[in-house]
Amino acid sequence: MIEKFAGKKALIIGGTGGIGRELAVGLAKQGALTVLHGGSSQQGLESALAAIQEAGGRAEGFLYPADGDGAAEAILNLAAVLFGKHGGTPESAPSRAGYAEKNYRSDMLPDILVCAWGPFFRKPIGEMNGGDWHYLIKNNLIFPGILISLVINGMIDKKWGRILLFGGTNTDTIRGFSTTAAYSAAKTGLGVLAKSVARTAGPHGVTCNVICPGLTDTEYTDEGTKAYNRRLSPGGKALDPADSARMAFAVLENERINGAVIPVDAGVVL
Ligand SMILES: NC(=O)c1ccc[n+]([C@@H]2O[C@H](COP(=O)([O-])OP(=O)(O)OC[C@H]3O[C@@H](n4cnc5c(N)ncnc54)[C@H](OP(=O)(O)O)[C@@H]3O)[C@@H](O)[C@H]2O)c1
Repeated sequence: MIEKFAGKKALIIGGTGGIGRELAVGLAKQGALTVLHGGSSQQGLESALAAIQEAGGRAEGFLYPADGDGAAEAILNLAAVLFGKHGGTPESAPSRAGYAEKNYRSDMLPDILVCAWGPFFRKPIGEMNGGDWHYLIKNNLIFPGILISLVINGMIDKKWGRILLFGGTNTDTIRGFSTTAAYSAAKTGLGVLAKSVARTAGPHGVTCNVICPGLTDTEYTDEGTKAYNRRLSPGGKALDPADSARMAFAVLENERINGAVIPVDAGVVL
């Protein structure tokens, strides 16, 4: 395996399961020091770390449910400690990242940030309450936005950075949805985040892109949803996490792909 990401530090939010895990294992295999973040499953975390170790990669990880206030800051703080364990020198330059008041060294900040976790549920718009709206928009749009604000200056300073976000199925353009209005509005909004980063930080070697997976079966997918995914997916075959991960590696490698919103969905139309 060619170590395309050797020397890079990758933080994968939601990297202990589903599409994020596939990506985390692949990045570690390709040489990145990878910090995995997961929600609550110790078993998921341990299994992902073991897979990376088996493949000869280097990884650390921790669990932190991200749906509370201050989660982005807390997660980056925890990740900084784990990155800091693996090298860098005391004289490494201090960072002017958003959390620079902690005086983190630049080697404690991610070079690659992937925000894979993205909670989802279905409800017709007329049945959504305030809590539903807050939950879906906060975790699918505001949370990735805060993470970006916290890491972007450090990436600009290093003149290299990669941010990868995950949209929803068919959220690559503005469309209407019968039972996922808030989720899909938030996911469609990620394209604006990515293009804004590309516009301001692209000239400094930083990219930000969005992958919009099709209906993908993971270990979290229940039997009813698997049947739904089969029924709607072209050819009757749902996607695999590896489908999105392959596109992710291509995007992360290529500085010329920036501000893109890329469907990896076999052409499904919901
Ligand atoms: N699967 C699909 O069909 C599909 C289709 C289109 C778009 N997407 C998007 O693709 C991305 C990846 O989706 P996915 O299906 O792989 O699963 P996901 O449920 O979005 O991500 C799973 C990861 O998130 C973690 N997680 C779960 N609850 C959490 C919480 N409260 N706080 C922090 N982390 C939490 C999990 O850890 P634990 O196991 O410890 O909980 C695991 O590491 C998402 O953004 C999703 O919206 C998925």
